[in-house]
Amino acid sequence: MEFEKLNNGIEMPVLGLGTYALRGSTCERIVAAAIEIGYNLIDTAQMYRNEQEIGNVIKHFDRKNLFITTKLYSPSASYERAKRDIEKSLNDLQTDYIDLLLIHEPYRESLSMYEAMKEAYQDGKLRALGISNFDKGQYLNFIRHCEIIPAVNQVECHVFYRQQDLQNILEENGTKMQAWSPFACARNNFFSNPVLKEIAEKYSRTTGQIGLRYLIQTGVPVIPKSSKPERLKENIDVFDFTLDGEDLKKIRALDGGESLFGWY
Ligand SMILES: NC(=O)c1ccc[n+]([C@@H]2O[C@H](COP(=O)([O-])OP(=O)(O)OC[C@H]3O[C@@H](n4cnc5c(N)ncnc54)[C@H](OP(=O)(O)O)[C@@H]3O)[C@@H](O)[C@H]2O)c1
Repeated sequence: MEFEKLNNGIEMPVLGLGTYALRGSTCERIVAAAIEIGYNLIDTAQMYRNEQEIGNVIKHFDRKNLFITTKLYSPSASYERAKRDIEKSLNDLQTDYIDLLLIHEPYRESLSMYEAMKEAYQDGKLRALGISNFDKGQYLNFIRHCEIIPAVNQVECHVFYRQQDLQNILEENGTKMQAWSPFACARNNFFSNPVLKEIAEKYSRTTGQIGLRYLIQTGVPVIPKSSKPERLKENIDVFDFTLDGEDLKKIRALDGGESLFGWY
């Protein structure tokens, strides 16, 4: 696994497991299988309602080798509620600390939530603070008012919506962009895209691997999700090849500049 140093010096794996829509025993089975084959970042959220299942699994592994991300959403939208819900995540995840806590999307109360997060960070309950789904304007406004620059902004990012401008602004200010839905959640026929297919053949890889490698190689950590163990292996096997400049250019041309999820 490769790591990215965040703005407070802690190291975040550049690839992790997304867990949206993984629930119950399937979630436990997939998270355990992923950790066993070398995933050490698990991305969850209070919204996904699977923190308990993830907690049931991670307690059987060496905690210091794992990087757990979770997110607060609208039910936590005040200082008091965020304070309460940080304890809930710690409790459900059955851990003494969370590696990265994000605000799931911009809320009117984001700064109050962030204040509660800052206190938990100072108490050693969180190792890094971040945000998610903040566009350029929302991010710049947020950092004007907060004391700790978010370590991460987790946003939609894939070959069809690369968000290079946002990445540049974030990096100028010390925040790492992390990609959610790095396969575009299979939209736009991602896995059978002819450009990705041609490049995949050249490197004897799959289209999924080319899509992940492109993001990692251009400085964006990724959190692909799969509910199939054989795909978990395929999706982490992206560290022993390098896309050349011509291929990067061809992939860059797939960027349509528009969200496929209508988030922004
Ligand atoms: N912060 C946010 O607001 C936000 C929003 C969306 C997502 N996220 C996070 O980002 C994670 C990833 O995003 P996502 O789950 O939306 O989508 P994704 O990772 O882009 O794609 C997942 C889809 O691709 C399929 N897949 C995975 N590996 C494959 C492979 N090697 N070959 C063919 N198909 C494959 C999966 O099916 P199978 O499961 O059947 O393999 C699933 O349908 C989420 O799970 C979540 O943790 C965060």
